[in-house]
Amino acid sequence: MIPEQMKIISLISYEDSPNSFQVTHKPLRPIKENEVLIKMEASPINPSDLMFVKGMYGIKKKLPIVPGFEGSGIIVAKGTDVQNVSEGMRVSCSAPYNGDGTWAEYMITTKESCIPLLDSVSLKEGATLFVNPLTARGLVEIGIKEKHGAIVQTAAASSLGKMVIKFARRENIPVINIVRRDEQVEVLKQEGADHVLNSSEQGFDSKLRKLAKTLNATLLIDAVAGNLLVKVLSLLPMGSKAIVYGALSEEGIQMNPGIFIFQNKKIEGFWLSSFLFQKTPEEMLKIANEVQELISKEFKTEIYKEVPLEEGYNALQIYKENMGKGKVLFVL
Ligand SMILES: NC(=O)c1ccc[n+]([C@@H]2O[C@H](COP(=O)([O-])OP(=O)(O)OC[C@H]3O[C@@H](n4cnc5c(N)ncnc54)[C@H](OP(=O)(O)O)[C@@H]3O)[C@@H](O)[C@H]2O)c1
Repeated sequence: MIPEQMKIISLISYEDSPNSFQVTHKPLRPIKENEVLIKMEASPINPSDLMFVKGMYGIKKKLPIVPGFEGSGIIVAKGTDVQNVSEGMRVSCSAPYNGDGTWAEYMITTKESCIPLLDSVSLKEGATLFVNPLTARGLVEIGIKEKHGAIVQTAAASSLGKMVIKFARRENIPVINIVRRDEQVEVLKQEGADHVLNSSEQGFDSKLRKLAKTLNATLLIDAVAGNLLVKVLSLLPMGSKAIVYGALSEEGIQMNPGIFIFQNKKIEGFWLSSFLFQKTPEEMLKIANEVQELISKEFKTEIYKEVPLEEGYNALQIYKENMGKGKVLFVL
């Protein structure tokens, strides 16, 4: 039975304050021919959500809006044009670009934004299948395809960074991991990382320069931006490339032009949505299945805390204060 009303988190202003969030109810609208209705099971808080609620993400939706970009649930209704999915199907799902997101009891999205879950994958595992595993896999794929000797990554102790470490090991491409605290060095060594450097430590610059030269590490995947990106790229071999996929420092990027002119270095961006857009449906299916096969190993996401929707803005604070410990998951 589909109810007339659903519980939601509603974002009413882009100001990053408790006043910008309301836990409330909203009527369910009828679905269109190409849409599916999902009864949501779980949805994480990611750095992209923190940026979105401040109005600093690449997408700004018309308010009020339900935030949340990814989650999992069960398809309970589908439009007349929707083929190859059935009611009762368990899916990982992402929010539409212009409509309500995943922090609600129900979400309407398109079939293309759903990945049917294998029997071996739980709904809670499926809630974090899209954003980080597909990005980590995509970034390592670029490192291999472009034949870089090794990858250097910043914010290496993040959930995504740990996936990069394990997936790159499986694919036999070395990774130099950069963290900012000593405890993170130990954590990553336990995860199986061979090379971990602390950017706050004395001697970091010379260690990185030497190791990057030895391993021919010419690809930087960077989630921090700002001064750290500038410093790390300047220490890598001639011709190196940085792919910026996050901006955790919230700083801009100010570089000496000589880095591009005389050292032939480059900076590009990466956004999962654009990356996946280039894949054919067959390639997407292959990637989705591969990621699901590895969801409890290489692509495992640690959950720090499960919370109900009622936690609202407070859940974001819990996540911000405990970022390195795992995800905060809304459980519907
Ligand atoms: N472009 C895309 O399509 C895409 C897709 C997925 C994810 N991402 C990005 O990937 C990044 C990681 O996401 P996640 O979910 O894995 O994050 P996460 O698990 O929440 O971890 C965040 C990590 O970043 C570190 N950190 C935070 N601020 C930092 C700073 N100013 N300098 C250095 N390290 C900092 C934290 O370390 P401490 O414990 O020291 O604070 C923590 O280890 C985010 O930037 C996210 O936006 C981008």
